[in-house]
Amino acid sequence: RTPDTATFPGKDYYVVTAIQGEHDFGLRRFDGTPFVDPASGKPVRTVSWGYDLSYLGSTVVARRDRPVVIDYVNGLVGSDGKPLAKHLFTVDPTVDGAGFDVPQVRTVPHLHGGHSAAEADGHPSFWFTADPKAAANGMGGPAGNRVRYTYENDQPAATNWFHDHAMGVTRLNVYAGLAAAYLVRDAAEDALGLPGGAYEVPLLVQDKSFNDDGSLDYATYPLYNPYTQLPLVDPSGAPMYSSGPETFANTVIVNGVVWPYLEVEPRRYRFRVWNGADSRFFNLWLEEAGVGPLPGLFMQQVGAEAGFLPETVDIGGGPGPGGLLLAPGERADVVVDFSGFAGKSITLRNDAPAPFPNGDDHNFNANTVGKVMQFRVVKPLAGADTSAVPAAPLPVAPLPAPDHQRVVDLQELQDVYDILDPTQSPSVIPRHELRLNGLRFADPVTEQPKLGTVEDWWIVNTTVDMHPMHLHLVTFEVVEKGSYDAASYLPAAGGVMGTMLPGGFHPDTDPAGHADGQPGFDPAYAVAPNERGRKDTVRVPPGGYVRIRARFDRPGEYMWHCHILAHEEHAMMRPFRVVP
Ligand code: C2O
Ligand code: CU
Repeated sequence: RTPDTATFPGKDYYVVTAIQGEHDFGLRRFDGTPFVDPASGKPVRTVSWGYDLSYLGSTVVARRDRPVVIDYVNGLVGSDGKPLAKHLFTVDPTVDGAGFDVPQVRTVPHLHGGHSAAEADGHPSFWFTADPKAAANGMGGPAGNRVRYTYENDQPAATNWFHDHAMGVTRLNVYAGLAAAYLVRDAAEDALGLPGGAYEVPLLVQDKSFNDDGSLDYATYPLYNPYTQLPLVDPSGAPMYSSGPETFANTVIVNGVVWPYLEVEPRRYRFRVWNGADSRFFNLWLEEAGVGPLPGLFMQQVGAEAGFLPETVDIGGGPGPGGLLLAPGERADVVVDFSGFAGKSITLRNDAPAPFPNGDDHNFNANTVGKVMQFRVVKPLAGADTSAVPAAPLPVAPLPAPDHQRVVDLQELQDVYDILDPTQSPSVIPRHELRLNGLRFADPVTEQPKLGTVEDWWIVNTTVDMHPMHLHLVTFEVVEKGSYDAASYLPAAGGVMGTMLPGGFHPDTDPAGHADGQPGFDPAYAVAPNERGRKDTVRVPPGGYVRIRARFDRPGEYMWHCHILAHEEHAMMRPFRVVP
């Protein structure tokens, strides 16, 4: 995006409008011809949402310490110019914030990774609609159809993004397309000499499913009363649907195109990679198409979410443990050197199970979600490649010892609904409810760090899946990971935090204490080399814990949540409040 630098001297100003459009996701038959609607004879259309584009939005490039002002407008109107009354996808009225009494089409943007003031953070309850005359929503949201947020960008170079965060429809709004890249640049980055210009490419990776008419599909399941096993109906008598607590789609989309390819020169490229999926983890690696991994074909990871790594990590040269694992919400800043591969087609592959790490999702197939995109090294070299990849991009200054420590946990319970999921047996199954500290969103705030202090949070995962935990406002150090003895742990309940009996944690720094006390090294319970920079989203393994350290340096209310968006909306989000 090109900023307006005149309206607010010294600041970059943008107007970013969420709109509905028709997007070409590149749906093609194997012979390359487009799908055609048999009734009209016209190519199938996909209605989707984006920020000024039909899907996703152009990248905002910010400079450290130069403020950015964005007017975010909800422009989700129909062809008659009136606010859309119905969402693109089935709204589940049973999740927090999504009752029958709130408009279905509502938005509020959040800058993920931003060191933002609380009033510019996009609190999920502060949503607004496309009605310019709308009254405030009663939860503190603005009147009208827009908000103005100022971001100071007082933070190091980072691979951030902004996406919708409206309570109860976040997952649907992001799936519809409301997400875009936001980069912060600084002098330290300039000094590294990484590939730039046309050789720096954003890759926003997601999964999607499409219906036969080209429309987007977000899987839903009928809701049942668990006692009577009768379908639940809304006040009009129509059956109610749930999206279920996670969703996996069957194609991979990069920058809004299904399985795209990029023609590249035989030289270095810098890729900024976002996992923008709802629930799917990606474990990314490179191979020559139809051949397999090649010597010298890998990624050099120089940065994670919140800035550069202290040491460059070679990664992504092969499947499984060799891959670059990114959970929803995580980002990686990588360089790939194509110079030895002129003429070859290089496929970016994925082999992450869904759910991660133990799932066996029915959509997993090496020829579908196992492929992400292709790089075709067919362009002639336009000039000498003068870019560099530093072995040690940037030292990370450690935070001081914590002023306060707290144990928080991830729990998986069952709520008061059943869903009919034909992919499961039996097909009417209890619906999961994911909780933080056993609490729901609306329960009183329990995490209240004091302004300016450093805290360690021991995040304990009592569930069977891995969860990417994200805190707004702060970037954190991953101090340690480890496994724990479930028998030694008393989960949080009723607002009282969890407690671990002495010896119950087995940190990865303890040579004898991995994987529930079993000997041997299990990398799932260790801080990986590419987690040694500042992060804002961290994977917490099942049966394990992660200790993070952060300074809470702005006052007000922020969110912490699982970035599996469907989990977030099935109660895995809580406020924290930084208090004077
Ligand atoms: Cu990317 Cu609170 O989210
Ligand atoms: Cu989760």
